[in-house]
Amino acid sequence: MPAVVAVGMQFGDESKGAVVDFLAEWADLVVRYNGGSNAGHTVVAEGLKYKFHLVPSGAARGKRCVIGAGVAFDPEVFMEEVKELRDKGRNVNVLVSLKATLLLPYHKELDASLTGESLGTTKRGIGPAYQDKMARVTGLRVKDLMAEDFPEKLKRVLELKEADLRRARVIKGDLKDYYEELLSRAEVWREFLRPFLGEDHIEVNEAIAEGKFVIFEGAQGTMLDVDHGTYPFVTSSNAVAGGACTGVGVSPLAIDAVLGVCKAYTSRVGAGPFPTELFGSQAEYIRERGGEYGTTTGRPRRVGWLDIPMLRYSALVNGVGYLALRKLDVLSGMRSIKVAVAYEIDGEERKVAPPFADEMSKAKPIYVELEGWEELDWREIVRKGWESLPEEMKAYIEFLERELNVKTVMVGLGPEREMTLAAPALKELLGSLIGVRAGE
Ligand code: IMP
Repeated sequence: MPAVVAVGMQFGDESKGAVVDFLAEWADLVVRYNGGSNAGHTVVAEGLKYKFHLVPSGAARGKRCVIGAGVAFDPEVFMEEVKELRDKGRNVNVLVSLKATLLLPYHKELDASLTGESLGTTKRGIGPAYQDKMARVTGLRVKDLMAEDFPEKLKRVLELKEADLRRARVIKGDLKDYYEELLSRAEVWREFLRPFLGEDHIEVNEAIAEGKFVIFEGAQGTMLDVDHGTYPFVTSSNAVAGGACTGVGVSPLAIDAVLGVCKAYTSRVGAGPFPTELFGSQAEYIRERGGEYGTTTGRPRRVGWLDIPMLRYSALVNGVGYLALRKLDVLSGMRSIKVAVAYEIDGEERKVAPPFADEMSKAKPIYVELEGWEELDWREIVRKGWESLPEEMKAYIEFLERELNVKTVMVGLGPEREMTLAAPALKELLGSLIGVRAGE
């Protein structure tokens, strides 16, 4: 049953897109299970740059992809993304779950007007869409959009939400006019979506049963998970590895490995606690070199040192066995690199981050300093292989492996596909998943 979940261990933006794209060389199916177009997964390959928001990153290799039931599905973003992929000459082979939550234009407007500011959301309508899903009476699914009685369902939902929509000034005039405008847009989505729809639980479970290699691509990161992150400064879905089971409808027994994805430092977009946050020239250095600006919103990201208490927490709640470590090249040129190994909270030492916003806000990181490495020709290093990595960088990787009890399977030394360097343990992971095919 070769299935792996690639999960973000920090606050999102760990370069999961690049990791999934790298692994997708061997994959048969790449599956999104949570979130929506708040995600921004970047793949740089063959001279092209893809910015995926809804479509799984496997599409950059033309692989079969699935958008699962747990996703908040914005048909307008999907249409745009499919068109862009086709413009780039990509064959788009995506199944969209009939069970996925339908994210409508008013969700985006509500997000912008009501919740957007205090939490610093991406304003992609994520919170309001999942709110309606959980409320049930105001929720609509992709299946509803395709049904004969969609006009009646939409009318009922709009009537129930009218007061909220007026308060947020989404509806300024006649409800009937707003309804008719939405219905006519929905007609376009229905026609476009028809060839993509299906039952994700069947497609994915059959693939796993047939021994096909399935990658579940997490969106956002563990610390943004609605249940396990720094609530309320989180997104509204389950970003953790377990979300793959609920977000698609597969058994926990069907997942063989969890690949944690983390950057060599930490970043966060939007509000919320960030114990190892840096300010001033060091922050500037990392932000500029790492291109730390949001893929979805363009906002500058907050940056800071690597936070091992947080990663220990992530490793725990996700069951991380393997690690993909990204953006090591960004730290080049620093004489020494700090890593938080514990927190002090109210005079008490904590090895594992407490996932509570109030406690995390009080956390004082306890740092160790590791030796930095100089700027090198990373392309040349990737060409020569793992052994040619600078000793200080190897020491950094090994330190992390020991602290987290994980094995590194790849490191990222640049955004392009060819700048991901496979570690010796990648063979072990692929061997355990797909056996002999790994050598192909
Ligand atoms: P929302 O998911 O748009 O509701 O935003 C909630 C919080 O999650 C905000 O702090 C966002 O900046 C953050 N967030 C949501 N999606 C991503 C992502 O893909 N990468 C990084 N941060 C994200």
